[in-house]
Amino acid sequence: MSCDDKVDCGRRRLLVATSVAGGVAGVAAVVPFVGSLAPSERAKSAGAPVEVDISKLQPGEMMTVEWRGKPVWIIHRTKEMLDNLSKHDDKLADPKSERRQQPDYAKNEYRSIKPEYLVAIGICTHLGCSPSEKFKTGAESGIDADWPGGFLCPCHGSTFDLAGRVYKNKPAPDNLEIPPHYYLSDAKILIGEEKKGA
Ligand code: FES
Repeated sequence: MSCDDKVDCGRRRLLVATSVAGGVAGVAAVVPFVGSLAPSERAKSAGAPVEVDISKLQPGEMMTVEWRGKPVWIIHRTKEMLDNLSKHDDKLADPKSERRQQPDYAKNEYRSIKPEYLVAIGICTHLGCSPSEKFKTGAESGIDADWPGGFLCPCHGSTFDLAGRVYKNKPAPDNLEIPPHYYLSDAKILIGEEKKGA
């Protein structure tokens, strides 16, 4: 879905170009954009995989890289973030991700290969805007007192948790998509490709 006058997708473009960091402790830190490892423009338009160094991504922080013109979020979840994921299944539209928005290796309670890292395409499944990070929990989030941390899509109010699962009764029908990816090492992820033989 393209951005039009009715839908403010400016932030989506901004997120592609910048890295956003936030934390449960409320300390903002900027995580560098992984520019040096990005493929050429021609390779990107052909959908080449993107190699990402996550070694500097601290617990509670998130970074954004571009793959096939889309923002891909990588979130280093804390233990508290992970513990909160199991507490609000009844409020989610598809808590077990039974609809297909992810490879089989991310079909688990964390929607990820390694519990601490979520890799998700940061595009709302409603009209294609990029949701905003809302990692603060409870009333401080400005969402509601029970908010466990997640994302808010600003144009029509869809909300997603820290596994990219959409809340019930929101415009967005589906959870955020998980792109194909695998770990080259503890510090590097390749986004856009499945592990051979996996
Ligand atoms: S694009 Fe409308 S709620 Fe996300």
